[in-house]
Amino acid sequence: MEWSSVRGQFELPDDLVYLNNGSFGPSPKVVLDAATAYLRQVDANPGEMLSVYRGKVQETKTRLGAYAGMAEDDFVFITNVTVGMNMVSRGLRNLGEGDELLTTNLEYGAVDNAWEFAARHKGFEIRRVEIPSPPDDAEQIVSLIRAGFTKRTRVLSFSHISTKTGLIFPVAEICAAARERGIVTVVDGAHAPGMIPLDVSSLGCDFYAGNCHKWLCAPKGTAFLWSHDAAQALLDPFIVGWGWERDNETYLGNFENPGTHCLALPAAVAHAIGYQESIGRDVIAARGRELASYGRAVIGSIPGTRILTPDNPALANSLTAFALPLIDQERLAAELATRRIVIPNGPREDHTWLRLSSHVYNMPWEIDLLAEAIGAAIAG
Ligand SMILES: Cc1ncc(COP(=O)(O)O)c(C=O)c1O
Repeated sequence: MEWSSVRGQFELPDDLVYLNNGSFGPSPKVVLDAATAYLRQVDANPGEMLSVYRGKVQETKTRLGAYAGMAEDDFVFITNVTVGMNMVSRGLRNLGEGDELLTTNLEYGAVDNAWEFAARHKGFEIRRVEIPSPPDDAEQIVSLIRAGFTKRTRVLSFSHISTKTGLIFPVAEICAAARERGIVTVVDGAHAPGMIPLDVSSLGCDFYAGNCHKWLCAPKGTAFLWSHDAAQALLDPFIVGWGWERDNETYLGNFENPGTHCLALPAAVAHAIGYQESIGRDVIAARGRELASYGRAVIGSIPGTRILTPDNPALANSLTAFALPLIDQERLAAELATRRIVIPNGPREDHTWLRLSSHVYNMPWEIDLLAEAIGAAIAG
């Protein structure tokens, strides 16, 4: 693969060093062109919007279902994982007074908020397992979570890939442990689709919310919520619209039609999948690991730096977090800005946290430039 030619397939200008795919993945031009064409087609006669889109969204559903291992009746398009996690946290019927939700210290802040809000309204409690960064191995993670279960634990919510450290949780093993105790599992899969090969229905979880607008590089505002048959009955609808039938509730009816919204975006997800498949999902995952290894070597060798992400390829892929020595925040921001580098970072108690995420359009020289910026900020 000629990686240097990939960048030209995106809108990214030559002088921008975008190392933050973990927040928002840029869409390749073919995906943007498809989404724009759909928008234009519909506005040529908005009266036909639903019939035009119904077919296109259905095609995408078939494609995404095959791509991520989901039966078409088991998932719905949503706008983002924050919404998906709210659909579950607010909708779960079996969670109330006296119950506990178990989660971890490595979750996304907005999702923590969603559970906190639901806990206040429904009266359940939240317990949090502390996973070290990096953990020793997958067994340690599973046994820490297992040790966190109590007689009152009803639901376990955790990330497939942590936003804070890029840790890939051993989802199947964790869900098996929860299932033995009848605990419902909710997986925040914001980062998995498009970063690593994904087969949602083989993971053994009850609910899985995944983003298409990060690593799959689909238009912003595309995501899905999956759940298997039996779990679907545990959820009240989040938004009650045309699909709800008083005496005959169905999952798709309850969740698939939240009113008028931009269907050009989910329709274009098929093109994002097409783009990824043209490169190959294993090739993409391997490239992610290659750039992450390069980042570990170059950024990890800055004196005083700890790497918070495991080295084991089963436990991490394209996201790597570093605890750099504590750097003056303004100086670091200035050095990054001078080089047009976009990367999340910030002061923590005794270090500067930095998260490197690189995708198909990145090259090793961009990581070298990042190291140069950090070095300059440290030197003052
Ligand atoms: C682990 C995790 N969960 C959820 C989200 C929220 O994604 P969105 O803003 O698309 O809802 C993010 C975003 O970065 C994330 O990293």
